[in-house]
Amino acid sequence: MIRQIVIGLALVAGLSACSADHSAAHHHEIQPGSLVAHLNPTAGNEGIQGQVMFHQTGDKVQVTVHIEGLPSNSTHGFHVHEYGDCSAPNGTSAGGHFNPSNMNHGAPYDAERHVGDLGNLVSNSNGIVEYEVADSHLAMSGAQSIVGRAVIVHAQADDLTSQPVGNAGARVLCGVIGVAKSL
Ligand code: CU
Ligand code: ZN
Repeated sequence: MIRQIVIGLALVAGLSACSADHSAAHHHEIQPGSLVAHLNPTAGNEGIQGQVMFHQTGDKVQVTVHIEGLPSNSTHGFHVHEYGDCSAPNGTSAGGHFNPSNMNHGAPYDAERHVGDLGNLVSNSNGIVEYEVADSHLAMSGAQSIVGRAVIVHAQADDLTSQPVGNAGARVLCGVIGVAKSL
């Protein structure tokens, strides 16, 4: 009974908030504080694993990466792909690069790039990646939202120019981006 009243009040509050703000295009959308993707190895890459966190910081999204088990001193293409589906043994179920604005593939610092183009990760002598970057194309909500997409780490370097995917080769890690517990 009490729970029904609380839900009723929440609905009324939600409705009044909506009627007060018809201008905001995405005002029904939840904007999470943090997102997380646990990266699991594709077939044949057991032993590699990682995690990526995403946090809104001002008008940018802070991307924090930890990966272990890679070959030492190696470079790996790193992207957000279109579908949050890592079910295929080779990771191809995640589709192509997340590209809602229909641009060409590029480097993270290019104006012309896929939203998902995060460039490369470089492992240290122990095969570990610790990397952090603030990106201005990723978003936590709206048309460029990465919620429900996938993070892919590739076997090879992204050359940042070849179309449509930078020639980064096979997919070694895949993780679906979901809502994280906020810090
Ligand atoms: Cu990729
Ligand atoms: Zn791309």
